[in-house]
Amino acid sequence: MVELKPIGVIRTPHSHSAAGPPLGVVLTGGSRGLGLAMAQRFLAAGDTVVVCARDPARLDAARTELAAATGAGERLHVLAADVADPGEAERLADFAAERLGTIHRWINNAGTAGRFKRPLTELPTTDIHTTCQTNLAGTLQACAVAVRRMQAQPPAAEAVYHLFNFGFSAFGARLSRTNIPHRVSKLAVAELSRQLRHELAEQGERRIGVHELRPGLVHTELLHADLPAAARPIIDRLAESPDRVAAVLVPRIRRVAGSGRVIEYRSKAASLVRGLRAGASAFRRQAPGAGGLRGGRHR
Ligand SMILES: NC(=O)c1ccc[n+]([C@@H]2O[C@H](COP(=O)([O-])OP(=O)(O)OC[C@H]3O[C@@H](n4cnc5c(N)ncnc54)[C@H](OP(=O)(O)O)[C@@H]3O)[C@@H](O)[C@H]2O)c1
Repeated sequence: MVELKPIGVIRTPHSHSAAGPPLGVVLTGGSRGLGLAMAQRFLAAGDTVVVCARDPARLDAARTELAAATGAGERLHVLAADVADPGEAERLADFAAERLGTIHRWINNAGTAGRFKRPLTELPTTDIHTTCQTNLAGTLQACAVAVRRMQAQPPAAEAVYHLFNFGFSAFGARLSRTNIPHRVSKLAVAELSRQLRHELAEQGERRIGVHELRPGLVHTELLHADLPAAARPIIDRLAESPDRVAAVLVPRIRRVAGSGRVIEYRSKAASLVRGLRAGASAFRRQAPGAGGLRGGRHR
């Protein structure tokens, strides 16, 4: 099991001038992995945070860990909820509105790559279903609820309330070695963000920004589940700790402006691999007779 190492007990009062005004943050899937590390960073910055996950015991352990690490347990509110279930997003929003007052940031972090990194034909039907329901239906439901709640908050001439999704770029999906339901649902999430931005713009809705978070490879249970032994050395080199990624993402989430931003974490090693692969595929496309994409095949 991959565990988040607490970043240390933070007892000094934070400075609002350095961190900006305190925010109300909703974070789905915050009991472990990247969500837990982000929750810790938001709390350390002075924000009030609502976190949900399905397993109440893990959620309770997360609450204890976060309270010990930040000394800000009174600004943390946890709710056992499954984002894949219809109605749960609404319950989460009710809870958040009551605890936060204003929801400034809503982060659809809850996600799964299923239990197996295997071909589609070898996946249990229940895993296919859970992955799609959590990643796609869950994010859709949460987006609908979050936007409704934000629209009920005080109006503004520019984006002051922000929604974040974890979608895949086409490039990221090609590099990923997870299963098809995970890759397809995450590609759909990126498209969902794009469609939602378009719909809000058509409605003249300016107070809500919709953005993408791309954390790169992070050492979490999601990444390590069913990872082939042969892939471990490369993952060990390329992936980062949740806390390191959260330390980069959270300040950028807190000060985001406008809409349609892609906030990403790129380790040096991952950037190098990405550059090499992009160079190689550009070479394949341009090299005469190299048989690239000219036949119009979708990849
Ligand atoms: N790790 C990576 O390399 C990586 C790379 C790119 C993107 N991401 C994205 O980053 C996000 C966080 O992933 P992670 O790696 O931190 O995963 P993780 O360690 O498996 O943590 C997932 C969190 O989401 C919760 N969760 C899962 N399904 C849920 C549901 N249906 N309803 C409510 N909560 C649920 C889990 O708690 P319960 O199981 O108790 O519900 C847990 O708290 C995901 O969206 C993932 O796709 C991760």
